[in-house]
Amino acid sequence: MQNKADRIVILGTGGTIAGKAADAADNVGYVAGQVSIEQLVQAAPPLAAYLLETEQVAQLDSKDMDFATWQLLARAVDRHLARPEVLAVVITHGTDTLEETAFFLQRVLAPGKPVVLTAAMRPSTALMPDGPQNLLDAVAVAAQAESGVLAVMNGRVHGAERLRKVHSYAVDAFASVESGPLGLVEEGRLRWLGAMPESASALGLSRIAKDAKDWPWVELIQNYAGADGRGVDALLAQGVNGIVVAGTGNGTLSVRLSVALERAQAQGVRVLRSTRCDAGPVIGGVLPSAGALSPVKARVELLLQLLA
Ligand code: SIN
Repeated sequence: MQNKADRIVILGTGGTIAGKAADAADNVGYVAGQVSIEQLVQAAPPLAAYLLETEQVAQLDSKDMDFATWQLLARAVDRHLARPEVLAVVITHGTDTLEETAFFLQRVLAPGKPVVLTAAMRPSTALMPDGPQNLLDAVAVAAQAESGVLAVMNGRVHGAERLRKVHSYAVDAFASVESGPLGLVEEGRLRWLGAMPESASALGLSRIAKDAKDWPWVELIQNYAGADGRGVDALLAQGVNGIVVAGTGNGTLSVRLSVALERAQAQGVRVLRSTRCDAGPVIGGVLPSAGALSPVKARVELLLQLLA
């Protein structure tokens, strides 16, 4: 009879970490999502120290992440975490939408065991791939953390709420805005620098039960010099369900954009106002604020609210 949670399940979803290029010197001209999760584990021999299971949930470039894959992933994570012998789940993912998936999983599952996402900026074929070390670090963090959705990249541990991709090319591509990383991974040891932020309770898998093709349409727009309301009117005409607007500064909007969004709201479209600034909340104002959520996370939040 199994009475000890001692195994870690690694779910593969694709990304650059599973990418392949024809030339080892090529760190950009690769195809993401080519290498299986079993092969990624084999490429990091020190992982043999852990009791691991793998499952290939998807094999895609995360720019193409979609609702059906999110649904599949959330269900797989939940199913594995419910097994008493499973200590934690690690997910390999593309860097491009990793922060959205991390936030989505945190809001839906708020897991009581660790769920650790990791990725790479260089393909598996690179002269110096960053994926094997990141995967090893992610498994080490999964074995030592207590709960919640985390991300591990370049020796740093980030929480789902503050995590953002902040660089398009460097291996140190992620940051926790406003606070710095939650922790560091040093030779396999997790050193916490800060406490996990308080997180809201799980919305639950029932919230995302609807067929993914019927999920609400939530669009993301911005304020900028010369912004007007024509884009909003076009979205309204096409039947948009929700709009997240990344305002300037403290979520400010041009008069014409603001009027168009208020008109949309009066017609039943849910609007959330975030900021295009890299950090900081949106305080006050007429249209509802997304607080300190980045525009892409505000979009996930609105999507989940509309699914209620
Ligand atoms: C992706 O997001 O799948 C491709 C880019 C990356 O992983 O860095």
